[in-house]
Amino acid sequence: MPPVPPPLAVDAGLALRRGLLRAADALLPPMAVMWDRTMGIERTQVIGALAELGVADALDSGPLTAVELASRVGADADALHRVLRAAAVDGLVRLDRRGRFRLTRLGRTLRSDDAASLRPWARYMALRSTGAAWGDLTESVRTGRSAFRRVHGASVWDWFAEHPDEERLFAAAMRALTEFDAPAIAAAEFWPERGTVCDVAGGTGSLLAAIIAERPELRGVLVEAPGVLAEADVYLLKNVLHDWDDETSAKILAAVRATMAPGTRLVLVEQLQERNRPHPFASLTDLQMLTQCEDGRERSPHELRDLLTGAGLRPGRVERVSVSALVEGVAS
Ligand SMILES: C[S@@+](CC[C@H](N)C(=O)[O-])C[C@H]1O[C@@H](n2cnc3c(N)ncnc32)[C@H](O)[C@@H]1O
Repeated sequence: MPPVPPPLAVDAGLALRRGLLRAADALLPPMAVMWDRTMGIERTQVIGALAELGVADALDSGPLTAVELASRVGADADALHRVLRAAAVDGLVRLDRRGRFRLTRLGRTLRSDDAASLRPWARYMALRSTGAAWGDLTESVRTGRSAFRRVHGASVWDWFAEHPDEERLFAAAMRALTEFDAPAIAAAEFWPERGTVCDVAGGTGSLLAAIIAERPELRGVLVEAPGVLAEADVYLLKNVLHDWDDETSAKILAAVRATMAPGTRLVLVEQLQERNRPHPFASLTDLQMLTQCEDGRERSPHELRDLLTGAGLRPGRVERVSVSALVEGVAS
């Protein structure tokens, strides 16, 4: 797993990047900047197509022309050249005068075997089902309701049950994102040395594995389907409540709370979003939740602590680690 910078370094890096981008934008007429912003859908689809075709893997051994590349990845050479040329504008690849493309540091994140591979996430974001829900954002803004169910007639989880390929892709995408800050979450002093930690809706279990790896006497239980939650000393819900509205979040917490013995703890891992403070990641994933999930949202520490209190849990520590925060509730 790649080393994870501390939260202050993450914040400072993101703030500096925003400042530099704003300064660069100030050099241009606002119309030019706004036109560029409207091309986000193109960027998502270019990255998604390169990820889907495995272009980064094919370029890993050295520069190739689109003609050489096309037969390896099963693409039309001219269309591939045009897509890669557009990707070069954003620095995913470099194009030399002889028409050869080579991977950049950024483009390497789309390699399957990169430690911080974003290939599954890029493919998931470019899916038709994901894009169609994003295409209905305006209606979500009008109604305040999530787009996915309106567009596809099913919750994203029921959709995944009917589309196992997409479900596997989403699970791989979540695993990659979770593995990014799993070392920092696992290193936090929230986990006991012995007993049992239960990761509720814990995906493929990579965070649970990281938490128990350094603690030989700690047992892990992964719940990804209706099952028995009892017997744990500490319960973990990472990026679960943000998928749901307050009412359903309260039901999820109540179901977990009902199995918790007095003194046991529940740790929420979420990105924090204060109401009036834009955040470079959380403010975007907040809309991902609005379009894709069941009226989900990113929340502030205060809102998360209110949910804990509502479920009969005493709010405890809040600690930022990497891009996530750990918010604790204790059963009394
Ligand atoms: C956003 S993902 C988070 C996965 C993991 N905690 C992580 O952060 O990598 C939400 C997870 O909730 C699971 N999930 C949704 N509905 C569920 C249910 N009714 N019972 C158990 N798990 C469920 C999904 O399968 C998915 O893996």
